[in-house]
Amino acid sequence: MAKASKKFKVGLIGAGGIANACHLSNWLELEGEGRVEVVGICDIVRERAIKGADMFPGAKPWFNYQKMLGEIDFDIIDVCTQNRWHAPITIDALKAGAHVLVEKPMAMNTRECEAMIRAAKAKGRTLMVAQHMRFEAPHEKLKEVVERGELGEIYAASATMLRRRGVPGWGKFHIKRESLGGPLIDIGVHVMDLCVWLMGCPKPVAASGKVYRIFGDRPDFFNGDWGVPYPPRQFDVEDYATALIRFEKGITMQVTVCWAANIPETSHNVQILGDKAGIATNPLGVYGADHSSLTSRKFDLLLPQEGHRMEIRHFTECLEQNKPVRVQPRESLRIQKIIDAIYESSKKNREIVIR
Ligand SMILES: NC(=O)c1ccc[n+]([C@@H]2O[C@H](COP(=O)([O-])OP(=O)(O)OC[C@H]3O[C@@H](n4cnc5c(N)ncnc54)[C@H](O)[C@@H]3O)[C@@H](O)[C@H]2O)c1
Repeated sequence: MAKASKKFKVGLIGAGGIANACHLSNWLELEGEGRVEVVGICDIVRERAIKGADMFPGAKPWFNYQKMLGEIDFDIIDVCTQNRWHAPITIDALKAGAHVLVEKPMAMNTRECEAMIRAAKAKGRTLMVAQHMRFEAPHEKLKEVVERGELGEIYAASATMLRRRGVPGWGKFHIKRESLGGPLIDIGVHVMDLCVWLMGCPKPVAASGKVYRIFGDRPDFFNGDWGVPYPPRQFDVEDYATALIRFEKGITMQVTVCWAANIPETSHNVQILGDKAGIATNPLGVYGADHSSLTSRKFDLLLPQEGHRMEIRHFTECLEQNKPVRVQPRESLRIQKIIDAIYESSKKNREIVIR
């Protein structure tokens, strides 16, 4: 295992939207602190690899990730491709001896996630899915509240992320072969992961859900200013999903997510109910009753805390200090099992047991 003084050699694969928005600048910051050295940036689109590598004095652009992994001994590989490539690239990187940070969702299905976990175990390497919402200050605050036992017995929760008009118009989000699904696997994975983590990661046992494609493939659908327009005939995923998940001990979680719907406004919220108090992310706070009066303890946080920045710093720090990462792969596997079960439930029109 790495020692605190070691400067990690980092490679990033998939220098597109999220890499440019939230990963490369954070690796650059860590490089400035002398903790990492970014040595390879790979993308099948040459200009993207070159542009990414230009940010780092010691980095070379690569256009084939297998060649890059074959040439350089990386300590860390950051996987930022579309979903389809998460598992194959992660497994190859782990086999090559690197620790891997992979963007959400973990992969395209449960089987792929299990193979990723096996590869990490076989090589004794760290694998973490980039669930950045766990690292945002408001959510860390709520986690403290739950861990202090303020909620009492948790019995139910809800996780929503609703966009009035917001189909991602770049990348491959709207293509099933590349991404598996629409908002359920794209933004649903964020709020479900956050909700389940805040509840203390109970084990899911069943899911019943329905997904709908209402707008995304319609030539007359107007998506507002969300990215560049995509050809409507390519859109073969859902744009709305709703589900009820059952966990051990009778806990339930309702999930509703969409990229487009005729609703008053775009919003997101995670609420968790306990017999002593409840929490919500919007408005952020703890809600209960004190004998004859309702109580609301709202938080106005003083310091912003960018989730991706904290997540990348956390991952590096865990490797430096040989500590377990906050997002354990088996927790991400369980979220993938929920996603798989919701899609299966929608197809078969019945509840699906999760094992
Ligand atoms: N955490 C978040 O908030 C967040 C936000 C957006 C996207 N994401 C996730 O990040 C991933 C990428 O999304 P994006 O918006 O950056 O998409 P994108 O299409 O903009 O970027 C993906 C990049 O990967 C490259 N690529 C594809 N296959 C490759 C391969 N085999 N080898 C090397 N490069 C390859 C593409 O050319 C592209 O540049 C998705 O899995 C998505 O779910 C996460």
